[in-house]
Amino acid sequence: ATAGPLAGRTVLITSGPTREALDPVRYLTNHSSGKMGHALAEAARDAGARVVLVSGPSRLSAPAGVEAVAVESARDMHREVMARVGEMDLFIGAAAVADYRPEQSAGRKIKKSDSDTALRLVPNPDILREVAALGEGRPFTVGFAAETDDLARHARDKLDRKRLDMIAANWVGADRGFHADDNALEVYWPGDGHASLARADKPALARQLIQLIAEHYHARSRG
Ligand code: PMT
Repeated sequence: ATAGPLAGRTVLITSGPTREALDPVRYLTNHSSGKMGHALAEAARDAGARVVLVSGPSRLSAPAGVEAVAVESARDMHREVMARVGEMDLFIGAAAVADYRPEQSAGRKIKKSDSDTALRLVPNPDILREVAALGEGRPFTVGFAAETDDLARHARDKLDRKRLDMIAANWVGADRGFHADDNALEVYWPGDGHASLARADKPALARQLIQLIAEHYHARSRG
């Protein structure tokens, strides 16, 4: 068996964006590249874990030795995660899941006209919140928070509201967080826990975050 802080453990990680179809040729999405989630999958694998990576569309290929599940929409991601998460020791939600999808996805390409048009959006399932709500025997649940303002307050609020074991918050905007090769994380956990992981490339940052997650996971298992 592999040595390492997560030897013998199973970890499910979500990564990348989701695509919410408007019609067969158009969709809504965001700037997530999958770099952060894929780096976490590699770091968890190197820490000894069996890793399942559920990823939205990304140009990155799945890391070697990781079980990859490719999805498109938030509802696809939700289905694939819920089908597997029951047997996992840890869950890390690094994907930028679309909060909303078009109410209807047209079966045919929507035709252009000269009049105004409106798009009605409906909420997607919140995968992270559902995993955290699984109750007794749920995986150690780590969320991400992507914020453009008031990072600490919003992240702590998500930690409490969704009853997470840990949350990793990053500033996002045109030039940071999404897509960039490096990142910085403010990590929070219940009981006013906080650690700052300084700016570094995403693989290095992922190794530090996996280390921190493993410490807290084992502390909880012992406690
Ligand atoms: O992929 P990269 O280009 O490397 O960029 C990395 C990243 C910026 C996407 C990543 O570091 C990050 O912050 N991921 C979470 C992005 C996000 O959607 O944050 P949020 O604050 O909107 O969501 C909070 C948490 O709930 C996240 O763990 C998210 O995965 C989860 N969520 C959100 C909505 C939803 N319907 N289901 C969810 O599970």
